Amino acid sequence: MPHLKANPIIVALDVESAEDARVLVSRLGNRIQIYKVGMELYAAAGMDFVRELLAGGKDVFLDMKFYDIPETVKRAVSLVAATGARFLTVHGSGPVMRAAVEGKGGSGLKLLAVTVLTSFDRQDLEDLGYPCEVAELAALRARKAMEAGMDGLVASPLDAAAVRSIVGPGPILVTPGVRSGGSPTGDQKRVATPAEALRNGADYIVMGRQITRASDPAAEAARVLEEIASA
Ligand code: C5P
Repeated sequence: MPHLKANPIIVALDVESAEDARVLVSRLGNRIQIYKVGMELYAAAGMDFVRELLAGGKDVFLDMKFYDIPETVKRAVSLVAATGARFLTVHGSGPVMRAAVEGKGGSGLKLLAVTVLTSFDRQDLEDLGYPCEVAELAALRARKAMEAGMDGLVASPLDAAAVRSIVGPGPILVTPGVRSGGSPTGDQKRVATPAEALRNGADYIVMGRQITRASDPAAEAARVLEEIASA
């Protein structure tokens, strides 16, 4: 786990307003350093809130899953890079990834490829015109991501070990879909515990509802950190 920090938890701020996000960030205090801003909060509060998090000393994982023509991707990525955000997701298609790498230039932004959405099954791929297994396409795209110069990948914790064996120890591997034993899984179908995800090769784990919907989010984050440390 070459990138593993003392605290590998990234909290997903899947809330509908900047105010809700502010309350969570303030309740979590110094227990959490990296926050994921996804489509929902982006639609509510946009880059203003991203800049607010950064100004408050937090790191931002911007989960925008960019997918567009190369020039648009390149220009948008370069604007994200200029904000000082730490991670950005783009879809794992060759031209999109190459444009993103160009756009980030020499900045410190880390680009993560989404290989295949974990909600996709074989039928969804067939509908897209890709008649292959999900694992096959994910493996192909993981290799292409490395060729394109991406910094890492987002993967299911259940695929983390396979992805790690394809890309080697260097690239950053981030896994959502993690739950401590006994926690409600919600709409997540393929979950692993935080410790399992890390053991399978993840550097960071994205956790949303288990922490954000806990009655005491800070206590829950502390509990998960202990669970990881003692595993
Ligand atoms: O609440 P929960 O822990 O399930 O949140 C997981 C977060 O990770 C959400 O923000 C979701 O969008 C994101 N995610 C995911 N599965 C993926 C990619 C991203 O759950 N394959």
